[in-house]
Amino acid sequence: MKGLLSLMASMEKIVSLCKRRGFLFQSSEIYGGLQGFWDYGPLGVELKRNLKDAWWRDMCSGHNEMVQPAGAPSTFDMVGLDSTIIMHPQIWKCSGHYDMFHDYMVDCRESKKRYRHDQVRGRWVSHQEVKVFVTTMAEADEEQAEIQHRALKYFKLRPKDAEALVYDGPSTTLDTVDEFSQVLGPDAKTLGTLTEPREFNLMFKTTIGALGGEEDYAFLRPETAQGIFVNFKNVLDSSRINVPFGIAQVGKSFRNEITPRNFTFRSREFEQMEIEFFCHPNSSQDWYRYWRDRRLAWYQTLGLAPESLLMREHAAEELAHYSVGTADIEYAFPFLPKGEYGELEGIAHRGDFDLRSHMEGKLDPSTRPMVVELDEFGKPRHRGSGRDLTYRDDITGERFTPHVIEPSAGADRGALAFLCEAYHEDEAPDENGKPQTRVVMKLHPRLAPIKAAVFPLVKKDGMPELAQEIYAELKRDLAVFYDEKSAVGRRYRRQDEAGTPYCITVDTESLTTQTVTIRDRDTLEQTRVKIGELAAELKRRISG
Ligand code: GAP
Repeated sequence: MKGLLSLMASMEKIVSLCKRRGFLFQSSEIYGGLQGFWDYGPLGVELKRNLKDAWWRDMCSGHNEMVQPAGAPSTFDMVGLDSTIIMHPQIWKCSGHYDMFHDYMVDCRESKKRYRHDQVRGRWVSHQEVKVFVTTMAEADEEQAEIQHRALKYFKLRPKDAEALVYDGPSTTLDTVDEFSQVLGPDAKTLGTLTEPREFNLMFKTTIGALGGEEDYAFLRPETAQGIFVNFKNVLDSSRINVPFGIAQVGKSFRNEITPRNFTFRSREFEQMEIEFFCHPNSSQDWYRYWRDRRLAWYQTLGLAPESLLMREHAAEELAHYSVGTADIEYAFPFLPKGEYGELEGIAHRGDFDLRSHMEGKLDPSTRPMVVELDEFGKPRHRGSGRDLTYRDDITGERFTPHVIEPSAGADRGALAFLCEAYHEDEAPDENGKPQTRVVMKLHPRLAPIKAAVFPLVKKDGMPELAQEIYAELKRDLAVFYDEKSAVGRRYRRQDEAGTPYCITVDTESLTTQTVTIRDRDTLEQTRVKIGELAAELKRRISG
């Protein structure tokens, strides 16, 4: 539970702290930045690495295949994979990404800007019988003010005339408007400048080799999942595992998002942490429920508050063409209006769609059960590999195409959610005992970039020497930080902002009793421990 004095910070405070303390920087900043691309600074890289390591350890390398986890239909195996970013272009044709991985965009003939159709928001506003849909791309908390400002300008009214505007209904997205002649585009001065929505494929194109002809086109992967599907047989044949089993992969994905926004939430280059879990069709619904519940619990274990998380099952009409069932784990990001949540992870029951697509060719999404899509000559539109990707159960002899459950998480969205959740402002006494507002990042110790900071209380009397000895010893297997500059209170503040859960102070007593104090970032409690027991105590606290 958050303390009384702590508050969910506005996004600006989080963004500013991220830059000031080196969690996140805009990519290519000295050249004016590049929209949709972000760099992780010294603290950010450790946070994101810790998040990916926690996922890998908890989902894959730490999995015990001999023990049936609570809620799982049976025991199962987990293995890992690291496939390439650029793969055979046919993979994207069979998966459906080549034909169907697009968003709708609208262009503005006046401003020459391009927007994602479903991300333009606006409100119907009338003045003296003229009704206009005034749009904006402003963030949620500025949306209404911006709409009003633009409406006043359009109707040539002054701010004091705001009451002359009549609103018809709440704000909504542009995709609820059928015809654009009365629409005022987000950056336009005149009506009706937006084009009809058009498809825009989100895959980044590149060329392989020096010739660069049409046949040399390839794509940067828009998801890590396909690398797993096309290696299903390789993994099965090279590891002594049986269905049910999962293959985990962490890596970069690329999507040419039309309007990247909300800090790192929608980026053009990002990292995914995906599991493709292969199981028998008869037990697939049980596995779907297992993974859905397990993934939600994982976020809570690492510190996301249950009241900030939502498990949203997709309605039938919202399901992707391949999906038998999908649930999104969503988080109440502070840049969203109150009561709205943003997707952190999707857990999809993909049936046998993926393995069949890579065997037989691209499936026709309008058919049930799905059959291979044919071209005008009656041939497969996109030919599959022709490889047998079915599975034979050694015990029963049954041959079947496994069903797939896919928990697909974003490492950058996860890191952003943990940063938002961690940001707190509270009061702590300064060195004179006076209460002061402090900014503290309450990151789970497993995720914290620095696990402990080591300070000599003062820079004399042998304290720095002993502190440096302790630092060198701890640094062998913990991310620790040494600081002897400025007053100890200020050093604590800097570590609070970095999310460091423990500060170790060497004081006069340390020199005679071989003990140090450990200060807990969240409770501010100080406990004295023997130097010889310090490493074990820290490890116990971090993993606990
Ligand atoms: N293989 C399935 C798949 O890729 P998705 O819902 O498109 O499903 C999975 O993506 C996760 O990847 C999302 O829940 C999100 O966390 C992350 N993600 C997707 N697009 C992203 C983007 N443009 N920027 C940051 N993260 C993104």
